Amino acid sequence: MFKELNILDEKENVLREVSKEVKLPLSKEDKETIEQIIKQLTYSQIEEYEKKYNLRPGMGLAFPQLGKLKRIIVIVHEYEEGKFNNYVVVNPKIISHSEELIALETGEGCLSVNRDVEGHVPRYARATITGFDADGKEIKLRVREELAVAFQHEIDHLNGIMFYDHIDKNHPFFNENEIRLI
Ligand code: NI
Repeated sequence: MFKELNILDEKENVLREVSKEVKLPLSKEDKETIEQIIKQLTYSQIEEYEKKYNLRPGMGLAFPQLGKLKRIIVIVHEYEEGKFNNYVVVNPKIISHSEELIALETGEGCLSVNRDVEGHVPRYARATITGFDADGKEIKLRVREELAVAFQHEIDHLNGIMFYDHIDKNHPFFNENEIRLI
């Protein structure tokens, strides 16, 4: 049976708080939450299930979006049509990043933001992220392009930052000479 997650809306102040580092090993409850998130994000990117369960498509979620102020992020990345990679990172840290910036051409979205927000969000094109997986094993990931954007978006949630905080009100759209648009 599929039970939909209760994702908080941007108007909830908890989304503006800084989440706490998580002590390992993870609790059974947190592991179950991670499994639920993976399932929902995956379903939301498969048309059949998206329709069946009326899900909003999304590739990432951070624990504070469920009202849990814990530094855990989950990303389900469709790297090829119908093929997904799951990333779970506990206490993620960006230890290095490119100088080059990119932005999603169509702007970013967020499962906590139920409206269209226009504007480009500058992100590092590449980043190296460290942290722990769901089993408490240390991990180091090198991410780029769309996946790098997703990681930066989700890590922001752990610090109470929303994607639109990065949009310059006086200059919301970049051209290709300013930032590489993907
Ligand atoms: Ni988000």
